[in-house]
Amino acid sequence: MRTQVAIIGGGPAGLLLGQLLHRYGIDNVIFERKDRDYILGRIRAGVLEQGTVGLLDEVGVSARLHQDGLVHHGIELAFGGARHRIDMTKATGKTVTVYGQTEVTRDLMDARLAAGLTTVYDADNVGLHDFDGTQPRIRYEKDGKTHEVACDFIAGCDGFHGVSRQSVKPEALTVFERVYPFGWLGLLSDTPPVSDELIYNNHERGFALCSMRSPHRSRYYLQCALDEQVENWSDDKFWEELRRRLDPEAAATIVTGLSIEKSIAPLRSFVAEPMRFGRLFLAGDAAHIVPPTGAKGLNLAASDVHYLSTALREFYTEKSAAGIDDYSRRALGRVWKAERFSWWMTSMLHRFPGTDEFSSRIQRAELAYLIDSDAAKTSLSENYVGLPY
Ligand code: APR
Ligand code: PHB
Repeated sequence: MRTQVAIIGGGPAGLLLGQLLHRYGIDNVIFERKDRDYILGRIRAGVLEQGTVGLLDEVGVSARLHQDGLVHHGIELAFGGARHRIDMTKATGKTVTVYGQTEVTRDLMDARLAAGLTTVYDADNVGLHDFDGTQPRIRYEKDGKTHEVACDFIAGCDGFHGVSRQSVKPEALTVFERVYPFGWLGLLSDTPPVSDELIYNNHERGFALCSMRSPHRSRYYLQCALDEQVENWSDDKFWEELRRRLDPEAAATIVTGLSIEKSIAPLRSFVAEPMRFGRLFLAGDAAHIVPPTGAKGLNLAASDVHYLSTALREFYTEKSAAGIDDYSRRALGRVWKAERFSWWMTSMLHRFPGTDEFSSRIQRAELAYLIDSDAAKTSLSENYVGLPY
C-alpha cells in the first residue's frame, strides 16, 4: 500500500485531519489499533470552540452538530453559596457549542466511510520507520500478517499513550508536565441538566462541574482523591456529595437519577516539544494534554490539524515547505496559551491537598476579582470561547 499521509490514530484528531486532507485532495489512510465501537464507547468532554465548529463546517460534517448541539453564550461560576454568570458572548461576540465528543467522532467516522476513505481498524503493533528521511514507512499487523505502507508523511494522532511520540529518539524530545493531586469522578445520567449553562463550582469540599449532553442528558463531575475507586461511589453517594458542593438553588432543584456511566480520570498538563520530527508530525493528545477544566482537549486537536492540513496542502500544491517547517512553532504557540488557561482554571477552582491559608485566600481573591472586573471576565471569555488560530 502507498499513501501520501499515513495517519496513526482514528480519534478526533486523526479523523478530522483525514477529512481536511481529503478536502484538499491529499490521499490519506488511518491506522487505528481499536475498532469503531470501542472508540465510540469512550465518554469525553463536549464543549466546542467556534473554530472547531468552523472546521467541521468546512469538511461538511456539522449537520447534526447544528441540529442537536446546544449554543451557549455564557458559563456560571459558583462559590460562597452564590452563582455568578459570565456573559462570554457579550465580552467576545462568540459562542461555544455543547455537543459530545463521541458524537463529533461518530459524525467524522460516518463522513469518512461515505467518502470511501480507508481506515484500517484493529491495526496491531504499528511501527514508524525512516521518518527522518524523505521516504517514511509504517508497518502494522492485521489478521496475522505484517503489512508495510510507504508514504510521504506520518501524522501521529494516536493520543497520549500512542506509539508516535514514543518512536522519537528521547534526546530529540523535551517534555513539560504537571500532574495534579486529584482526579475527576464523572457521572452521566438521562436527567435534565440543573441549569441551562455549565456551572463551575469552587467549594471547600472540592470542585464540582455541572455540564450536559442534551436537554435530557446531564454530565456531572466531582473532584476526588487520586486513590479514589469508582466502585466506592454508589449513585446515591455521588448525588449526595454533589448536592453538598452546589449552591442552594442548584442543590434544591437538581434532578437525580440512575447513572449510565461513571468513571474517574486523572488530571495532568503535558506538552512535548517540538511537534515535528522530519516527516513525522504529532497532533492532538499525542503532543499535549490539558486538565479538562478549560474544555480544551478536543479544541486543541482541532487547531493542530488545521495548521497541519494547511501546511501539507501548501507542500503539495505550491511545492513549499514553509508551512510544514513552521508547523511546530505555530501549533505550540496556541497549545501553550490553552495550557496556561487550563492550568489557571484548575488552580482557581480546585481544593489542593495541604494548601495553606494564604493560597486559599489568593484563590478567593482571584474569584472575587474575576466577578468584579469586566477586563477579567473578558480575559476568561476570550480563552474559553477559543483564541484565534
Ligand atoms: N496504533 C494505532 N492507533 C493507536 C495507537 C497505536 N499504537 N495508540 C493509540 N491509538 C489510537 C487510540 O485507540 C485512539 O483511537 O489513537 C487514537 C487517539 O485518540 P484520542 O486519544 O482521542 O486523541 P486525539 O484524537 O488527539 O483527541 C483528543 O480526545 O482524549 C481526548 O481529551 C482528549 O478531547 C481530547 C481528544
Ligand atoms: C463535559 O461536558 O464533559 C465537560 C464540559 C466542560 C469542561 C469539562 C468537561 O470544562
